[in-house]
Amino acid sequence: MKRTTRPRLKESLAIKMGAQAAKRPSGKRTRPAMYGALTGVSLFTGGGIGDLALRACGVEVVVASELLSDRAEVYRANYPETHMIVGDIRTTKRDLLKLAQKRLDGRTLDVLFATPPCQGMSRNGRGKLLNGIRSGIKPKFDERNGLALEAVEIALKLDPKLIVFENVPEMEFTLVERSDGSVGGLLETIAERLAPRYSGRWEVVEFADYGVPQRRQRLITIFSRVEPSKQLAQRGASLLPPRTHSSSATIFTKPWITVDDVLSEIPSLDATSKKSAEHPSLPFHRVPVLDQDKYFWVSNTPPGKGAFDNQCANPKCRFDGNPTHSSKHDLHGINRASKETPVRCLRCGELLPRPWVVEGGTHRLMSGFTSAYKRMRGDLPASALTRNLSYACSDQKLHPREHRVLSLHEALLLHTVSDYHFDWRRADQKQVSDKTIREIIGESIPPRGLQRIFAYVLELQGLAHSESRARGARSTSVKRSGGSRMRKAAAGTN
Ligand SMILES: C[S@@+](CC[C@H](N)C(=O)[O-])C[C@H]1O[C@@H](n2cnc3c(N)ncnc32)[C@H](O)[C@@H]1O
Repeated sequence: MKRTTRPRLKESLAIKMGAQAAKRPSGKRTRPAMYGALTGVSLFTGGGIGDLALRACGVEVVVASELLSDRAEVYRANYPETHMIVGDIRTTKRDLLKLAQKRLDGRTLDVLFATPPCQGMSRNGRGKLLNGIRSGIKPKFDERNGLALEAVEIALKLDPKLIVFENVPEMEFTLVERSDGSVGGLLETIAERLAPRYSGRWEVVEFADYGVPQRRQRLITIFSRVEPSKQLAQRGASLLPPRTHSSSATIFTKPWITVDDVLSEIPSLDATSKKSAEHPSLPFHRVPVLDQDKYFWVSNTPPGKGAFDNQCANPKCRFDGNPTHSSKHDLHGINRASKETPVRCLRCGELLPRPWVVEGGTHRLMSGFTSAYKRMRGDLPASALTRNLSYACSDQKLHPREHRVLSLHEALLLHTVSDYHFDWRRADQKQVSDKTIREIIGESIPPRGLQRIFAYVLELQGLAHSESRARGARSTSVKRSGGSRMRKAAAGTN
């Protein structure tokens, strides 16, 4: 049946996200926590986007740690009660342990949350390393991948009930050199070091499946030393909540929350001039101005398409049969963009509104793939928001309909940070640069999805604070039944 009117934003969010999120446009957000219920230590904390989920579940982070001072400053402004240790964890570890023990003051540590950097992890890195080892070459390991093992050392000293790692799915394929010189999978090495006290599992999670309006896949690894999670992990059962959303509705899930659900009522911007590219009063609702050429490419890009496939914009021609851009794998298996794609209309000879460069007075198509200068689809969750979210040339960064990239205001909505109290300033009151905000967004995961995971895992272990349980019940009805389902599974009754 054809839908003639769109439900208003508030109503559609109320349907899909629950009443709490629907209140968001009027400024009501998830309140900061009720402290003192549960204790946490957070490692590789960044600006603290992930820690918003911990706080919403009633976890007081007593100590956090981050390498970069600009991120640590943002964290300090938002978590004044947490002691933030700035520096390389390999050198700050000893101080961190002392301070955590002091601040715990005899209390048990409930959660150790670790989100080590992922830049060194890659799917094909494993194959290359193994091939090297087989042919007798001493492999060069990316030392950043060993940072996760620092978290293990800290866990063994602090003995938390629960250890949660969040990382890219490639973590599953990452190899490390162990202290005895042998080579092993990073996750397997972590599991060996933590056994037998802890048992754990790792699973790839699609955050859109937890009601986040963004596709973001992450590997969530949970180790526990308490029942029933420990027993469930030993039996290979999932420790994660059942998904609440899917690409289309089922009897168990609601449809994914889409870009249009969240952005359709946000005031328009246009990247032609500084005036039209910035909203006069809405904080962070501004985008970079595009030069004339880029604006020509972007403004001729239809919804859901990329500028490399644009057709003739000459009003007298409008030929739409020019070959579109493509790519194929070369003999070495590397995906290469086609060099044959035309930059001029095959019928009238005018320049097509496709990304070009000028070399020696001649236009040629810019090197790049079809996902560059591409519009996000309004009827799907956003593609993963990376630190390049303000660059039109990066993967799928264009607004579904307007001629511009997403504003930071929109990115914060799609990343669900706007659901929480979070100030983008430093503890010393200095302004945080847009670049730092983009980096913090790009390296973190949407807290709303992580909150679902923490709420479920904590409840499973009987750790959930009563207020967080009530809040969890408001936002995820599936979770409650899921919790009892998991407890039954642990008891062997289902
Ligand atoms: C994936 S990001 C963490 C994101 C964070 N959990 C959030 O929610 O915003 C990894 C963080 O680890 C930090 N980092 C990298 N190397 C580090 C080191 N040697 N010691 C401490 N922190 C480090 C990075 O600066 C980065 O902020």
